[in-house]
Amino acid sequence: MSLVTFNEILPQARKAGRAVGAFNIANYETAKAVIIAAEAEKQPVILQVYQRLMTDPYISALTTMMRNMAEKASVPVAVHLDHGATFEQVKLAIDCGFTSVMFDGSQLPFKENLEQTRQAAEYAHCHGVTIEGEIGHVPLNGTEAAVNIPLSTPEEAAAFAVATGVDALAVSVGTAHGYYCEEPKIAVDLARQISDKVAIPLVLHGGSGTPHEKVKAVIKNGFAKVNVATEFQHTFQLRLQTELQKLNGKFLPLDKLMLPATDDAVAHLRQLIRMFANP
Ligand code: 13P
Repeated sequence: MSLVTFNEILPQARKAGRAVGAFNIANYETAKAVIIAAEAEKQPVILQVYQRLMTDPYISALTTMMRNMAEKASVPVAVHLDHGATFEQVKLAIDCGFTSVMFDGSQLPFKENLEQTRQAAEYAHCHGVTIEGEIGHVPLNGTEAAVNIPLSTPEEAAAFAVATGVDALAVSVGTAHGYYCEEPKIAVDLARQISDKVAIPLVLHGGSGTPHEKVKAVIKNGFAKVNVATEFQHTFQLRLQTELQKLNGKFLPLDKLMLPATDDAVAHLRQLIRMFANP
């Protein structure tokens, strides 16, 4: 009932000055935590998977599970491929049943990124699937690129959005993926300038550890999708560690072991979803 593409949730969020949380799940428990949190907050949500999972032989099973959860959910849920690296990966995701895909050509020269993203967008739209592109580059923390982050320019972003026909656009305004080594410098003015020139929903990658005031400021400037992976998965992991320490080697069925970690992830996700909905 509630399985949607980006078009049912992101333009509406941008218009209302709020954002939809997009959370990278890795398994049944993390997917369940995202759905439970979104339902509790009565907000739409995006279940997304890292592109590396596309090489898993059971990716179509994971997709079926996510679609099934989305269909049963009381809130709109999109099932999205994060950072699709090749046209083949985008195709595979669409064949598996993702309702939305990202093609990330942000490390290619501008023209090549534009052309490959345009082709992926054409294919996605032919199949009723929405697509996100990226211009500028949001690097991985701890890498050289994260020291001198290649920011997007409003002109490039505007030209890219129009020429590719993407439904949402990830731009670089100073965030990076993973935990930061030092406080990030988020270019809120640049976010505003990009938002003035680009009408489609903008996407903030690298949500983990980004100061909340900055996240709220960019949401008010057209960023209608905020990606978070590291920090809520870490919450899950830390609780798992605590529970394992308590067990001290004793056996507990895995479904029971996972419950407290899932609960902690739900609490964490609820806070984020609430903040994104009321920046
Ligand atoms: P974080 O792991 O920094 O939250 O980034 C998530 C992300 O942007 C996924 O594309």
